Amino acid sequence: MEVRVENGGSCEVGKSGWGQSLPVPSIQEIVRSDFQSVPQRYIHENKGGPIISEDLADSLEIPVIDFSFLAKGDEDEVQKLHLACKDWGFFQVINHGVKEEILEKMKAAVAAFFELPFQEKKKYAKAENEIEGYGQNFVVSEHQKLDWSDMIFLFTFPSQNRNFKFWPLSLPGFKEALEEYSREMQKLAEELQANFSVLMGLKRDGLKRLQGGELKQGIRMNYYPICSRPDLVLGISPHSDGTSFTLLLQDDDVTGLQIKHNEAWVPVKPIPNSLIVNIGDATEIQSNGMYKSIEHRAVTNEKKPRISIATFMFPDDEQEIGPVETMIDDQNRPKLYRNIKYVDYVREKFSRKMEGKAHTQFAKLRATSDH
Ligand code: OGA
Ligand code: NI
Repeated sequence: MEVRVENGGSCEVGKSGWGQSLPVPSIQEIVRSDFQSVPQRYIHENKGGPIISEDLADSLEIPVIDFSFLAKGDEDEVQKLHLACKDWGFFQVINHGVKEEILEKMKAAVAAFFELPFQEKKKYAKAENEIEGYGQNFVVSEHQKLDWSDMIFLFTFPSQNRNFKFWPLSLPGFKEALEEYSREMQKLAEELQANFSVLMGLKRDGLKRLQGGELKQGIRMNYYPICSRPDLVLGISPHSDGTSFTLLLQDDDVTGLQIKHNEAWVPVKPIPNSLIVNIGDATEIQSNGMYKSIEHRAVTNEKKPRISIATFMFPDDEQEIGPVETMIDDQNRPKLYRNIKYVDYVREKFSRKMEGKAHTQFAKLRATSDH
């Protein structure tokens, strides 16, 4: 039942050059054959940190940003964005202008992919030396605990980075839905990036220049099957994203994402038709720690599978990423991170299991305990 390609073979890091990950069983298949089973390898002994109670969580909702105000240059909304990135590292975006139909088509396409027979999905399985395709990433040892999810990761922008051998082209409508969706995310991302630039004291195109032109894009589609013992497992282990920022689309009616805020896990209640945005490590580094790349995880439930679609926006591989001059002040805000070629950062991230923010030490000038 392992998601392993028959002709994978080679040990060299694959085409993207980002890394590799060991083949693992499909948890969707395990649950399909026995929905009660919770194999030992999925049991996380120490899940770490208290969970905020439902009551408290209601008063602790992550900030909501109205994108239509942002796009008009509304000063108050830009200030709200600043506080959201600084205090939370996460926000929900409403009035983003992406048609509901495009979001629904995308969700339906992803649902249809995971409903395909396993033999069909396996045709798009990632090779061991790749991170693109169907399977799971961040598995670096045979002894490591596994997460209660399957995924398919595809590079989407620039379009020449698309490897159609991993795209389920036999699935009617999938390619069109993903192309349309990724185009919309690219547009949204450009406006967000321009706003982050201004907030960092740069011109609107400042970050674009520092990140090597148009942001790159890859989309990770996650499938979390039901679990008979959600208390024992994790849908996705705590981690921060190694991106500039991430745009997340999720089911409207299943809560699963939790973010670490003041040392506790805060559930994020979906707002229908909104997108969740989180700051990634590259922005934390460029903002010299002002904007936080927050640890997050996903939990599962007994009743309903959950799908989420994470659009990762990231700089060019060859670009050197470091705190921008305007965010460094030797007296009050000394440089906290070293300059580092983005591909070196990503390779470090993909060479480890997901473990909070441990991988971010790689870019820090001094070791800290914030992971
Ligand atoms: C991710 C991620 C969270 C979710 O794919 O990086 O954090 O809710 N997903 O699925
Ligand atoms: Ni994430």
